[in-house]
Amino acid sequence: MKKGFTLWFTGMSGAGKSTLAEAVEKELLERGVGTEILDGDVIRTNLSKGLGFSKEDRDINIRRVGFVCRLLSRHGACAIAACISPYAAVRDEVRESIDNFVEVFCEAPVEKLIERDVKGLYKKALAGEIKGFTGIDDPYEAPEKAEIVVKTTEETVEESVGKILRTLELMGLIPATDGGTDYSEEEEEEIKKRLSDLGYI
Ligand SMILES: Nc1ncnc2c1ncn2[C@@H]1O[C@H](COP(=O)(O)OP(=O)(O)OP(=O)(O)O)[C@@H](O)[C@H]1O
Ligand SMILES: [Mg+2]
Repeated sequence: MKKGFTLWFTGMSGAGKSTLAEAVEKELLERGVGTEILDGDVIRTNLSKGLGFSKEDRDINIRRVGFVCRLLSRHGACAIAACISPYAAVRDEVRESIDNFVEVFCEAPVEKLIERDVKGLYKKALAGEIKGFTGIDDPYEAPEKAEIVVKTTEETVEESVGKILRTLELMGLIPATDGGTDYSEEEEEEIKKRLSDLGYI
């Protein structure tokens, strides 16, 4: 059976989790890898309907998403989670429960996200209309050992997707293809160094 895995995006609102989840899914489907996206916005309207944004509720939400990712990935699929998941401890708890857990840190300075303000939420949070907004008046704990770091205010979507796919190839989780992905020699070295530092290769 194919090796299933979980690709876990984390990052502040507007950092690019949903954008990259969809773009990566498209590429994976082309390579014959079955995927399912668990997007925070969607999950909060069904699986986690009724949960709020306290630390406790955020942790419950992440445990639920992690649980579904575990079920999917142990049956050979690629589960893609795209939730802010601001707390490191619960992310690590989920990591421990899943074989082949690949964390993607969507790194972006909050000032840039405020400028980008895709959903107009930062404006509201800064005006005090939304309380407990990650990065404004609620913490975001950046991962220290993410398998992949994408700098989404510096890279294009294609570059970020290229890095993600190349890492998955090097980890032996997806079949390699000739070309088709967008990354440079330097990026290849950076990816290999990261995976070697983490003990994967
Ligand atoms: N390298 C990149 N990766 C991802 N997104 C990028 C990149 N460069 C620019 N963008 C843009 O940044 C925005 C990211 O918004 P997106 O909705 O994906 O964020 P999100 O992390 O899912 O936020 P939320 O937590 O609010 O759902 C999009 O408008 C996207 O086009
Ligand atoms: Mg999103």
